[in-house]
Amino acid sequence: MKIVVINGSPKGNKLSFTMQYIYYAQKMFPHVEFNSINIGQKLNNMKIKEETFQEILKEMISADGILWCFPVYVFLVPAQLKKFIELLFENNAGEALKGKFSGVLSTSMNFFDNTAFDYMHAIIEDLNMKYTGFFSNNSFDFDKIERRKTFYTFIKNILFAIENQLPTPRRFNTLNIRKNFVFTPSEVLDEHKLDSNGKKIIIITENYNEKSNLGKMIRKFKSSFKNEIDVYNIDSIDIKGGCISCLTCGYDNQCIYNDGYPDFIRNKLRNNDIIVYALTLKDRYFSSRYKLFLDRAFFNGHTPIIEGVQMCYLLSGSLSQIENLRQIIMALSEIGGGNLVEIITDEFGESEEINDLIYNMAKKALEFSNSGYIQTPTFNSVGGYKIFRDMIYGLPGVLFQADYRFYKKRKMFDFPKNKLIYRIMRLIFKSKKARGLFKKKMFKIFFRPYNKFFKKLDVEQEIREFGI
Ligand SMILES: Cc1cc2nc3c(=O)[nH]c(=O)nc-3n(C[C@H](O)[C@H](O)[C@H](O)COP(=O)(O)O)c2cc1C
Repeated sequence: MKIVVINGSPKGNKLSFTMQYIYYAQKMFPHVEFNSINIGQKLNNMKIKEETFQEILKEMISADGILWCFPVYVFLVPAQLKKFIELLFENNAGEALKGKFSGVLSTSMNFFDNTAFDYMHAIIEDLNMKYTGFFSNNSFDFDKIERRKTFYTFIKNILFAIENQLPTPRRFNTLNIRKNFVFTPSEVLDEHKLDSNGKKIIIITENYNEKSNLGKMIRKFKSSFKNEIDVYNIDSIDIKGGCISCLTCGYDNQCIYNDGYPDFIRNKLRNNDIIVYALTLKDRYFSSRYKLFLDRAFFNGHTPIIEGVQMCYLLSGSLSQIENLRQIIMALSEIGGGNLVEIITDEFGESEEINDLIYNMAKKALEFSNSGYIQTPTFNSVGGYKIFRDMIYGLPGVLFQADYRFYKKRKMFDFPKNKLIYRIMRLIFKSKKARGLFKKKMFKIFFRPYNKFFKKLDVEQEIREFGI
């Protein structure tokens, strides 16, 4: 039996944590041929020769099963692997790969590994292949026998499914893309144009046709303001290659690449009040170029890089059918420290409605920026930063010293304490009588401070203190 391993790690076959599982599988299943293809490195500059791509595709077609093996990069697969997936679609590979069994294997810090798996699950089905599950492990957990046992079973299940040609349930519908809708932007009357009042606003986009819906949505947003809004095209930023996870940046946030990207982030992306991403959806995400743009931001470490910024999205595509992508957008804004104002797409409504939505988003972003409104944290950042905190405090913090300094300065090493009072209370609460007594008074105790607060509340004083 032959399994083709699509290795998306930009570190290649030898230095990849994820690939260690393949070497393990080779030892545990010696009758199976695991043929690894080093996609992450081959596509580091996001290009691949046509004949090399065709050879890889041929190899995939000849396999009994495919294992997608990659590190999680910024909630998804690395940009290099994303590019390869785009090439598969461009080459109609779904026809030749139809019915092939496919599993997903990844290592990470378990920070949004779930969104990466969700993406790959959908992609496998879009390529008409049979999804046989995922295996996710923390980069440093290979030494745990129970994890290796799970991995062993994961591979065994894939092999069993192939041998017995088992049916697999389908989870995702094919994307139903709105066709023939042409958005017509309306003009904004001079007296309704918004004054940015010194707020810095930029639009980040990719090559787009001015006559496309996205182009016209950008035009509408820009024309909502009296002031000129800068538009940056990520295709014209000098990006020499994808993040190779060399971790050089960990010490002082200096990227090993000598190209225009770090400068763009420091001088153009940072220090804005409102950032608009204007993008077109590609397969179940955005383009690999945009992914490259995000991956390379890794040189900033695990710190919020859009703190206090109002984030707006103008999207062309079927976002409502890709809930995973919406989750990613929401989490990215939140973890970055920004506030997601709105996501406007061209998938619903007529031009009039979309025009109103875009204008209102611009207005809302200005108001939020003026009042410093930032949505309260949810599981995304509360949970996410706990993972980062533990990681930076531990062994990886030796490499990520810039993060360590940042977390220390911001008092982010906020581990819970096992206070003496809690320990005493736990002892007391071992008694059924004590638990019963507490239960009777529990809500009174919990709400005592609220009651006190409401008695004293002076509404006008409160609003004055908000400073809005
Ligand atoms: C650019 C970049 C982005 C990353 N993004 C994530 C992430 O979103 N979530 C996560 O848990 N780990 C993330 N990681 C950590 C890697 O997933 C992890 O180190 C992985 O084990 C590396 O696997 P490899 O050695 O096979 O390349 C990121 C690492 C890099 C370099």
